[in-house]
Amino acid sequence: MTGEELVARAEAAAAAAYAPYSRYLVGASVLTTDGRVFDGVNVENAAYPLGICAEKTAIGAAATAGVRPAEIAAVGITASPCGGCRQWLYEWQVARVSFRRADGTIAEYAPAELLPDSWDLPA
Ligand code: THU
Repeated sequence: MTGEELVARAEAAAAAAYAPYSRYLVGASVLTTDGRVFDGVNVENAAYPLGICAEKTAIGAAATAGVRPAEIAAVGITASPCGGCRQWLYEWQVARVSFRRADGTIAEYAPAELLPDSWDLPA
């Protein structure tokens, strides 16, 4: 599945987003190394900081099915991931991250490029 195809899947998933406060619908689709796909959407809350991003619900769905870090080949997102989600993408050792830029083009990165000198627990 190409990055563009994964982003298209995330865009379809975004229709199910629960975003009554921002009205900004986000979708994310996780492709595992064994070919499974898990979708996620942003889920907001009236206590605004408690809302969660689409990337987290997608990775959470994969984790619930037993997927572990290094078992995610790619993630497609409808828009550029926020800083916190970049840390999640790094933690899960996602091989390739694709998202649609505001100008409509597809961006493709390795997570380390999205989070240079990323934070790790001290050894
Ligand atoms: N959002 C995501 O789902 N992913 C991101 O990477 C950035 C932001 C959501 C959170 C909130 O529900 C809405 O977009 C507006 O910030």
